[in-house]
Amino acid sequence: MCGIVGYVGLEQAAPVLLQGLGKLEYRGYDSAGIAVYQNGIFTIKTKGRLTDLKEKIKKEDITLSGKIGIGHTRWATHGAPSDVNSHPHSSENGRISVVHNGIIENYMELKEMLLKKGRKFVSETDTEIIAQLFDDCYNGDMVETMIEVIGKIRGAYALGVLCTEHPDQIVAVRKDSPLLVGLGEKENYIASDIPALLEYTRDYYLLEDNEIVLLKQNSVTLFDLNKKEIKKEVFHVTWDVSAAEKDGYDYFMMKEIVEQPEGLRKTIFPRLKEQAIQLDHISLTQQDVKNINKIHIVACGSAWHASIVGKYVIEKVSRIPVEVDLASEFRYRNPILQKNDLCIIVSQSGETADTLAALREAKKHGVRVLSIVNVVGSSIARESDDVLYTWAGPEIAVATTKGYSTQLSVMYLLALYFGAAKEHIGKEEMAKYIQDLKKVPEDVESLLSLEERIKTLAKEYAQSKDVFVIGRGIDYAAAMEGSLKLKEISYIHSEAYAAGELKHGTISLIEDGTLVVAIATQEALFEKLVSNIKEVKARGARVIAMAVEGNDDIEKVADEVFYIPKTNELFSASSTVVPMQLLAYYIAVERGCDVDKPRNLAKSVTVE
Ligand code: G6P
Repeated sequence: MCGIVGYVGLEQAAPVLLQGLGKLEYRGYDSAGIAVYQNGIFTIKTKGRLTDLKEKIKKEDITLSGKIGIGHTRWATHGAPSDVNSHPHSSENGRISVVHNGIIENYMELKEMLLKKGRKFVSETDTEIIAQLFDDCYNGDMVETMIEVIGKIRGAYALGVLCTEHPDQIVAVRKDSPLLVGLGEKENYIASDIPALLEYTRDYYLLEDNEIVLLKQNSVTLFDLNKKEIKKEVFHVTWDVSAAEKDGYDYFMMKEIVEQPEGLRKTIFPRLKEQAIQLDHISLTQQDVKNINKIHIVACGSAWHASIVGKYVIEKVSRIPVEVDLASEFRYRNPILQKNDLCIIVSQSGETADTLAALREAKKHGVRVLSIVNVVGSSIARESDDVLYTWAGPEIAVATTKGYSTQLSVMYLLALYFGAAKEHIGKEEMAKYIQDLKKVPEDVESLLSLEERIKTLAKEYAQSKDVFVIGRGIDYAAAMEGSLKLKEISYIHSEAYAAGELKHGTISLIEDGTLVVAIATQEALFEKLVSNIKEVKARGARVIAMAVEGNDDIEKVADEVFYIPKTNELFSASSTVVPMQLLAYYIAVERGCDVDKPRNLAKSVTVE
């Protein structure tokens, strides 16, 4: 949901801003703009992608010499994508320029107030209100003005502000939307995410809510809401710059699919002991686990799908009851949370607005929160009692792949940890589970070899109107993720169905040639799934099935079969998702879609 970059230094700001925005386009890509100070604030912005902005700059032959500036890439909330709604936004007199990520909830009432004062607005955005309000409150001091402004606005925001009267300063703040400060040599930066600045610095301040930063070429000062200076530890990034580069792949999504085995190894192996799971830095003791009454897993999107797999596995192994909620529902449904409950929050970015709000809701009820997060130091990670990181590395493609699969692996680790603490698994059984878990990365790796076959199949199915993905139990949970991957990047309508439920209505949509992907990895449910395949075949469906090696019977009913290696069926979702990721990818490529930037989407959803 929008990306922000800011630069102040001795170099030209524009190239740094444009370069940084390029790394943040995953956050939104319906318009882009920059503002630099050069004898006044000069703003250039446009509807469309960053390439359109670059084109515009070139076409208009503008010299952007300013050494301080702010930039923005947008995912529209208030007002459709258009030149005028693009950021940066200015106060009417041009004194103030603002970039914003988030939503200002009370913008209507603030707009009324400012209109009464005679201010005129040009855009439909909530951000323009901030620019005007900042100007209205301006008292000559950027930090004091920022404190006053944030006292008046309600909602989520990361803000970067420029002022003509302080051409050497950027003032910035965050609340419920990410923002960090990059510390350079004689230059400093702000950005929504680390990849935007990785080329320039590895040292960062991770801002907390309502911490205000005053950025100058040779200094960075942090303040609290009382204008008291704050000291902060520098966060040093150790990952390679190439982790956020495409490395020769056509799309980040393919690179990230291929990176799954490595991410899984990094996430699983350090936590495996010979006969036990060791979750370092987790304060949840064996006794705490024994006392758990119920687990609530809360997440959005694919993280929610990983949570549903988690429910099956945790309940099976530990016998602790698990409820899974969509964060956007959980936060408003007045959930029943009790003292001995545990809340598990799952989020790749660690910044999803609804998920963060769900975390706070759980904490408000005094419930302990353990989170599964990929981005180190993100809001969710910082606000949780315990964090288990997925070590997938930076994920750039909007459609998650390695983020999801590493979340699954943490679910397995937790299930075993809980199972052991609850004394539901003995030592020998644990050793067997551990052996099977160790095999997960190599199984995923072996499935990548299906790529060529799937590429050919994708040509055949690229023009499908509807695709149904069916399964039972864990296979149903995996079907949800497979179906989402397909629809989000190829725009083919797709639904996941619990195979036994299909006949209660949805089967009426099956007609000659409709593609049904059927997942049948659960031994006890195999025959039932075969019957469900027969039901759709009888109505003209084409069926791609997924089954465990050795279950060749499925070839009698399906048109095409992908076999997954024989392994513990509790871990099967890690395998079955791979062919579905590849199928979604190649169908999207075949249809000419922009795989990494599907229409209307953004990776980090920092609005409700
Ligand atoms: C967006 C992304 C999804 C992701 C979801 C939750 O919709 O496109 O891939 O699953 O947000 O994000 P999170 O960062 O909380 O896992």
